[in-house]
Amino acid sequence: MMENRENFKNRFTAVMAMAGSAIGLGNIWRFPYMVGQNGGAAFIVVYLLSAVFLSLPIFLSEAIIGRSTQKSTFGAMEQLAPSSAWKWLGLLTVASPLIILSYYSVVGGWSIEYLLKSLFFRLDAYPSLSELSSSSVTPLFFHTAFLLTCALVVKGGVSKGIEKFSKITTPLLFVLILVVAAYSVTLPGASEGVRYLLKPDFSKLTPEAIMSAMGQSFFSLSLGVGTMLTYASYVSKEENLLRTSLGTSIFDLVFAILAGFAIMPAVFAAGMEPGAGPGLIFDTLPFIFGKMGESIPRLTELIAMLFFLTVLVSALTSAISMMETGVAYLIEEKGFNRDKAMVVIFAGCWTLGLLCSLSFGSLSGVKLMGMTIFGFCDSLASNILMPLGGMLFTIFVGWKMSRSQVYEEFTNSGTRSFNKAVFKIVYFLIRYVAPAVILLIFISNLVY
Ligand code: TRP
Repeated sequence: MMENRENFKNRFTAVMAMAGSAIGLGNIWRFPYMVGQNGGAAFIVVYLLSAVFLSLPIFLSEAIIGRSTQKSTFGAMEQLAPSSAWKWLGLLTVASPLIILSYYSVVGGWSIEYLLKSLFFRLDAYPSLSELSSSSVTPLFFHTAFLLTCALVVKGGVSKGIEKFSKITTPLLFVLILVVAAYSVTLPGASEGVRYLLKPDFSKLTPEAIMSAMGQSFFSLSLGVGTMLTYASYVSKEENLLRTSLGTSIFDLVFAILAGFAIMPAVFAAGMEPGAGPGLIFDTLPFIFGKMGESIPRLTELIAMLFFLTVLVSALTSAISMMETGVAYLIEEKGFNRDKAMVVIFAGCWTLGLLCSLSFGSLSGVKLMGMTIFGFCDSLASNILMPLGGMLFTIFVGWKMSRSQVYEEFTNSGTRSFNKAVFKIVYFLIRYVAPAVILLIFISNLVY
């Protein structure tokens, strides 16, 4: 048993840490281009529906498991379902965030390079993404720097590291993205971009678009891999889990939409292609910054710098949550001290990240199921590990834990009247709706 397990101090810091995990490249990088490719506001509507009917039940399931046991993934499974096959879910969710961290750190590294470029006023010197990612040494250097920064924060522990860091950085992210969005929507020609985000085009809502909206909603909330479970295990027993989960989800959504407003109007103002896909923030935007920099250099430089700072900080707080999930496991289950746990996780993720990074260049010929190493890790995590984990967590809470156990945790032993009133609905979503819909996603992925 761990003694003196650390907790988040209050609701504010808990939500800032969770929102810090949730807000990341998923919001800034994936969300805007997915909206762009899949029918604008129509996509956002589906996204909202899946946030409520799919992601919230998964979020609550993870929160209920984490907070009721006050343990991280593996230990939580062992406590609630001793010596059963559920321990595999515990182990799976130790491994999955680390796989994500490995390639996430590579992208985080790119954002450092772009930030440095804008800091040193070299707007014309942005490399194209393919140029940048395929060279071997520089991206590795920044991957290392990114992972080291995470490690330094995680080393500080829950309150002196994660909590202290995220209670400053998460509010800062909102300030930054608001500034960039305010600038972006006032550019001449920007209104086209605003319309693009808000005008629903239901004809683009193909089954695939719907699937991506669902997948995006749980990627964005860091669900299915035990990260929120671990963070919830640091939430105090008095806290209302529905409020922390809803609070986190709302912050995450608002941020994603603000990121859309920061990016799309600028894209339209520059007459660029909104459906550019993954290259949107690393190729299209730098190009726009470069072009605008010709007429208003100082302001553009400042905005470019603030933008890439936002990308970097948001990626850091997410990466920290992934690292903590692994570190907590090693500390609680393997008796490591925090420093040693961190070194082990760092070494593992650094090595896998190295392979991911090189897979854009010298290892680009290495294919796993037809994908590069980076592509394989991303697709394994987003298409399999996250939905699978999410489904199993809801099944665990809905069918393995007793109804009264779930009720106690969700309503804080019957003391929250609102939670008591909505319990039936929430329980129904956890038990039937969420697992069934995710199963459907799996089957349709197999069929397509
Ligand atoms: N939610 C983060 C984003 O939007 C990514 C992330 C952080 C994540 N932790 C995670 C994704 C754990 C899956 C699992 O960028």
